[in-house]
Amino acid sequence: MSQLGGLAWVVFLFLLGEFGADAVALAARASLQEAPPATVIATCSACHGSSGEGNETMAAPRLAALPQSYLQDQLDAFARGERRNASMQSMARGLTAEMREALSIYYSGLQAPAKVNVEVPDAVRPQQRGAWLALRGKWDNDVPGCVQCHGQGVLGVGPHIPPLWGQQASYLRAQLLAWKHQDRPGGPLGLMATIARRLSSADIDDVAAYFANAPDSALAGASSSSSAAPLNAVPPSAFRPAEESSIADDDFGREVRKGEALFLHTSELAKQYVGSPINCVSCHLDAGRRADSAPLWGAYTVYPAYRRKTGQVNTFAERIQGCFNYSENGKAPPLGDPVLTALETYAYWMARGAPVGIRLPGTGYPKLAQPPRAPDFDRGALVFEKNCALCHGADGQGQRSEAVTVFPALWGELSYNWGAGMEQIDNAAGFIKANMPLGLGGSLSDQDAWDVARFIDSHERPQDPRFTLSTEKTRELFHDAKFSMYGTPIDGHILGSP
Ligand code: HEC
Ligand code: HEC
Ligand code: HEC
Ligand code: HEC
Repeated sequence: MSQLGGLAWVVFLFLLGEFGADAVALAARASLQEAPPATVIATCSACHGSSGEGNETMAAPRLAALPQSYLQDQLDAFARGERRNASMQSMARGLTAEMREALSIYYSGLQAPAKVNVEVPDAVRPQQRGAWLALRGKWDNDVPGCVQCHGQGVLGVGPHIPPLWGQQASYLRAQLLAWKHQDRPGGPLGLMATIARRLSSADIDDVAAYFANAPDSALAGASSSSSAAPLNAVPPSAFRPAEESSIADDDFGREVRKGEALFLHTSELAKQYVGSPINCVSCHLDAGRRADSAPLWGAYTVYPAYRRKTGQVNTFAERIQGCFNYSENGKAPPLGDPVLTALETYAYWMARGAPVGIRLPGTGYPKLAQPPRAPDFDRGALVFEKNCALCHGADGQGQRSEAVTVFPALWGELSYNWGAGMEQIDNAAGFIKANMPLGLGGSLSDQDAWDVARFIDSHERPQDPRFTLSTEKTRELFHDAKFSMYGTPIDGHILGSP
């Protein structure tokens, strides 16, 4: 506003009043989705640029190609005074609701500014703090990586999660601080407010700088001077796997990194063995490090183990094969395959120092106590709509950004199959309670976790590869358990019927 000059500002607001009439007319034509009057757009352009590309001197963000409902929410929040910024508040208040909608349609329809190079680097190191926060997060403080919600290359996902690339570092920083200081409404599920509160000011500087310069400065290891604080401050009780920075730069270390990459990007790097676009990390968070998310350090040291599921003692590699066949809905690599060797090497590396044969706290998914009321489909549907649909989609089919899965499908052809552990309501409830909604783990009541697990696992999904003769027979052989919905009727349809 300072750059606009006091008088110009007054004149502008007056003119905006004059356009009120246009705005009303526009409302009547809203269904035609005509562009807002050029004069109004010219005003916005003064700060946001003529292509909506943003302008750093004016501290004005990029608007072009941001999701329409996101833009409209922001304009409405400025108008209500809930999102605070002097220029934008008076601007938004001078616009009718219809005009705000028309402007959000207009800007979301503009072409995104030429794509800056936000390639995901092959390997980030924890010392590259901004990059690490962006790509991997700060899980010891329950902060997921930014890309886990904003998508690879932070291009934005769906109607509610805006892109971050193309925004200035100063703007990103200001928004994170606004959330931290409660100067901006928390947005969907309060996710960003929660995340910003868990970031230190140094974290905020680092991650904003990373997005502004990505990836060069981060790859060069140039971190800001404010970044001395260690990223990982860990709960003392849990086993603590070695820092990723300690992976050596030798042949063994390279194999560990290969395993880590496979774990994170399974559906791209081990395509031939994966049926549904899900990664190991989708169900084993923080690259398999997170307690209560079946962490690899907890798993490696309890194999070989007898498993009821297979009726024999399985090695660790065989256990991984199981997750390929069922959870990934794929076809497991044969024993000795380089993919299995790399994953096993990664798990071994992570478990070094853990006692063998002892089930450490945090291993597997937590076992929830039986809920007071039997898990219920309809209550689960409500929990899903309120807490999960934002990311996994109202139809449970997940969301993708440039063909890469950001939010996995929870049922249907793109999900885990009927042989997977997640198909059992008790496993799913434990995972969900501890880890979902992403970034808000532990926030659901036990009852809600049970109900939503029941809801998810009452939908059709790919057939159990062990299918034998009939759904009935297959249930008898492999699903004769209280917590499996396989072979049971839902609205007249038998789940799992071919
Ligand atoms: C005087 C300069 C100025 C003008 C004119 C202006 N804006 Fe803004 N706009 C800003 C600034 C500064 C911000 C960042 C506010 C903040 O930090 O929260 C902003 C933020 C926004 C946002 C939020 C974007 C996001 O990514 O969250 C939207 C939407 C927006 N403006 C739309 C408009 C529209 C539409 C117009 C024209 C009617 C307009 N602005 C005119 C300065 C301006
Ligand atoms: C758990 C999901 C999630 C994660 C993880 C996440 N975000 Fe967001 N982010 C959102 C949502 C949802 C919004 C939209 C907020 C709103 O509508 O007010 C958002 C919006 C933003 C915005 C506002 C953009 C604008 O145009 O004003 C910024 C900045 C942002 N996020 C930065 C980050 C950074 C940096 C990280 C990583 C440290 C991150 N986010 C991680 C979900 C997430
Ligand atoms: C759809 C979710 C899902 C995906 C994807 C997935 N897993 Fe699993 N995984 C599970 C479940 C459920 C369990 C059983 C957890 C329990 O026992 O509490 C499990 C268990 C494991 C275990 C044994 C853990 C233990 O403590 O005994 C290992 C090892 C494992 N998975 C590795 C992998 C690998 C490697 C991949 C990728 C190839 C993968 N998983 C993909 C859901 C998944
Ligand atoms: C803010 C976005 C977000 C919300 C909200 C959210 N999830 Fe997730 N969910 C994710 C992401 C991202 C993953 C994959 C984790 C990863 O890649 O690190 C995931 C993974 C999962 C998985 C395991 C992956 C698979 O293929 O099945 C289940 C089950 C799940 N979520 C259930 C839920 C449930 C139930 C809710 C609501 C209570 C919920 N999620 C809310 C983002 C979200």
